Amino acid sequence: METLQTAYAGLTLRNPLIVASSGLTNNIDKIKDLEKAGAGAVVLKSLFEEQILDQADHVLYHSADYPEAYDYVQNYVRSHRIEEYLTLIREAKASCSIPIIASINCYDNGSWVSFARDMEAAGADAIEINILKIATVLDEKPGEYEKLHTDILKAIKNAVKIPVTVKMGQRFSNIVAVVNQLKANNADGVVLFNRFYQPDIDIHKMQFTSGTVFSSSSDFSNTMRWIGIVSGQIPNLSLAASTGVHEPEAVIKALLAGASAVELCSVLYQHGNGIIMQMLTILEEWMQSQGFKTIGEFKGLLNFKNVPDQSYYERVQFMKYFSNRD
Ligand SMILES: Cc1cc2nc3c(=O)[nH]c(=O)nc-3n(C[C@H](O)[C@H](O)[C@H](O)COP(=O)(O)O)c2cc1C
Repeated sequence: METLQTAYAGLTLRNPLIVASSGLTNNIDKIKDLEKAGAGAVVLKSLFEEQILDQADHVLYHSADYPEAYDYVQNYVRSHRIEEYLTLIREAKASCSIPIIASINCYDNGSWVSFARDMEAAGADAIEINILKIATVLDEKPGEYEKLHTDILKAIKNAVKIPVTVKMGQRFSNIVAVVNQLKANNADGVVLFNRFYQPDIDIHKMQFTSGTVFSSSSDFSNTMRWIGIVSGQIPNLSLAASTGVHEPEAVIKALLAGASAVELCSVLYQHGNGIIMQMLTILEEWMQSQGFKTIGEFKGLLNFKNVPDQSYYERVQFMKYFSNRD
């Protein structure tokens, strides 16, 4: 009998399918439905720093005539918003048995630390930090953007005992080196990758607009490449593949490349929760056909650690597929 159980970031999941942080996980009924549909864990919708600040600013605008109320209102709004989030964690823990991973979306170091402690106290099984910042500062020294990631991780790790994972963007000059730094600073897991907002331009209105919100299955190849490289170079670090996991086969490929779990978002918005069971069935059937009893038996089997020189590997593939085309 096959088991789909997997160890991810210090947690035991009944299967490797984690529902990614999004509107899919922003209330208790949806979370219960996802557990029923077979999810191995859920990452709650992130609490964004801006959400709290915007809300505070809105209220503060109306209390502009009462400057003495400023601190009171700001603290009230912050704690109220936070209390809603903590209530969601408590409700999810009370009614579900799958791990509940809280999510912090931040862009600077420090202001979220006490909030992480509150999440832990509310019962979160782990915290996923999503550092949503694009490096755009002209005179920033090389390395400062990367350092921000390790600084935030260190601050949160110092504050809590539960596992902390980092959901990374892709805009680094050396992804492996950054992940290595995260591991050195005790990250319990790394999610590759967050998908940033995709901007577009409306050429008729001559303005910036929003691009496609959802990923597509063609995004998966890049996710799989980096899972393979990172897992080959940095053993003993839990990785979750995120962005472009749409097909059941992509789950198997991510595990073969070295992921311990995958995070699903767009595919659930587009096809509904039923896709979870379809993915699990195909994973189980594939394991059966290959004679694997556990995920550990094949996790990372096709990562890049057996390739002596990855740049050579990449170059050869490039030459093979592109150089002979007219
Ligand atoms: C509507 C929507 C809302 C999202 N909200 C969040 C969020 O609050 N926090 C976060 O870390 N990621 C958020 N994401 C990103 C997803 O968690 C995920 O990383 C991304 O969509 C890539 O995965 P996918 O290819 O499976 O969609 C959101 C994505 C979508 C489509």
